[in-house]
Amino acid sequence: MSPIPGLSCVGILGGGVIGGGWAARFLLNGVDVKMYDPDPEAPRKVGEVLDNARRAMHKLVASPLPPEGSLTFVDTPEDAATGVQFVQESAPERLELKQMLLQRASTAAGPEVVFGSSTSGLLPTDMQRGMTHPERLVVGHPFNPVYLLPLVEVVGGEQTSTAALGEAAAIYESLGMQPVRLEHEIDGFVADRLLEALWREALWLVNDGIATVEEIDDCVRYGAGLRWSFMGTFLTYRIAGGEAGMRHFMAQFGPSLQWPWSKLTDVPELTDELLDKLVAQSDEQARGRTIRELERHRDDSLVAVMQGLRATHNGAGLVLDRYERQLFARAGSHHVEHDLDAPLRLYEATVPVDWVDYNGHMNDSRFFQVTSEAGDRLMRFIGVDEQYLTHSSYYTVESHVNFGAQAKAGDRLYATVQLLSHDAKRLHHFTSIHRADDDTLVATAEHMMLHVDTAAGRSSPAAPALLATLDELAAHHGSLPRPAHAGRFVGQPRG
Ligand SMILES: NC(=O)c1ccc[n+]([C@@H]2O[C@H](COP(=O)([O-])OP(=O)(O)OC[C@H]3O[C@@H](n4cnc5c(N)ncnc54)[C@H](O)[C@@H]3O)[C@@H](O)[C@H]2O)c1
Repeated sequence: MSPIPGLSCVGILGGGVIGGGWAARFLLNGVDVKMYDPDPEAPRKVGEVLDNARRAMHKLVASPLPPEGSLTFVDTPEDAATGVQFVQESAPERLELKQMLLQRASTAAGPEVVFGSSTSGLLPTDMQRGMTHPERLVVGHPFNPVYLLPLVEVVGGEQTSTAALGEAAAIYESLGMQPVRLEHEIDGFVADRLLEALWREALWLVNDGIATVEEIDDCVRYGAGLRWSFMGTFLTYRIAGGEAGMRHFMAQFGPSLQWPWSKLTDVPELTDELLDKLVAQSDEQARGRTIRELERHRDDSLVAVMQGLRATHNGAGLVLDRYERQLFARAGSHHVEHDLDAPLRLYEATVPVDWVDYNGHMNDSRFFQVTSEAGDRLMRFIGVDEQYLTHSSYYTVESHVNFGAQAKAGDRLYATVQLLSHDAKRLHHFTSIHRADDDTLVATAEHMMLHVDTAAGRSSPAAPALLATLDELAAHHGSLPRPAHAGRFVGQPRG
């Protein structure tokens, strides 16, 4: 069963840079994908995008990702749209090609299936012409890499229904994205218009020999680019206006718009000379790194920025926070069969960059966070749910953490929990935190928890149903060897 209600399988038309990125977004969210792309190389290319996406997503989120969806390549656009709940078109940017694909696929899809198009700037009114049920086509314009960047611009054409726009936005949001709805369709939409303005000016600066491609990129990444990621342009300029705000800013910098400083009304002629110059400077800037290496560098940096912004509750960091909560809730609603004759494997996390301190190792406090999350899962396992938490809970009264090995950013960790003892009020358990790639034991933790009536603020006996589950678990865990570090005290010699 799909972790996203009502979305178990989607169709994707076109599996290049963007279609591959969409496939990764859906698959890593546990949704099956049917992909149509006539290029025999498409499975290899999508596989490579998926490898990058797996790597990045496991670094990005601390929450467990659902079991991956399955990817199937099909022979026709009709096949891709059959038996799916959503279709995303990501074919080359040619109107007639997109129209043909959408027309064919829409004859096969159920009438309620919404279609999103990744087009960078074609009008949905033109694309939906000739479709069966044209009212279900929306533009869902994403950004590369689709599996990491949250923005998706959502806009409809003349025939698009409000319901289709709402449904597409809800689907994108369920994948951890941030839909931004545009009121009216317009060539190039909003984001690409902004990007094009910058790009046009940058080409002039190279053409006129004012700066190299690297110098221009430096002007973005050491300055405005840093601010853009959390404030955009208008809020930044409001601050630049000082206490007098936007009106003062406009009075100060408005006149220069007339001079003007830019050459945006024109575009440099793409002569061989300009192209040779661009390519040579770009080669020099890349310093021999392959596209895959550059992609991984980009992805790691994006993960770091988004995790940093989560700490300041800003922009893409807020989207990440919301997405992680969704993933935790979905993981909690999934019934997983556990082998009771072994410590329960209850929690997994990939060490994010902001868990790592100046030594390059995971900070002590994060081990406590991992064992605390595992303890939380144990509570869920024995039956402490949202309803139970309205009156009672377990509070931790004593803990002991013991460190064995280091963990670094990107390491995948898993935590197992063994019940050591319990009675009506007490729960004594032991967590072992391992590195997933080689099962190295990196830390252990022992906890005593007390059952509490939260309204009265006093210890109280747990509900009979919880105690019955604990009794059953104890019957199994009682015969497991006692963990070597259980009962350790601080300073005890290691042996
Ligand atoms: N590259 C970007 O940064 C970016 C960003 C946002 C949106 N887009 C848009 O996404 C769409 C795809 O762009 P891309 O960058 O992935 O291009 P791409 O060239 O990487 O991929 C296009 C894919 O479509 C396949 N294809 C060709 N003919 C097809 C057909 N008849 N049916 C199905 N698939 C077919 C190709 O084999 C290729 O794999 C375009 O509309 C583009 O404007 C691109």
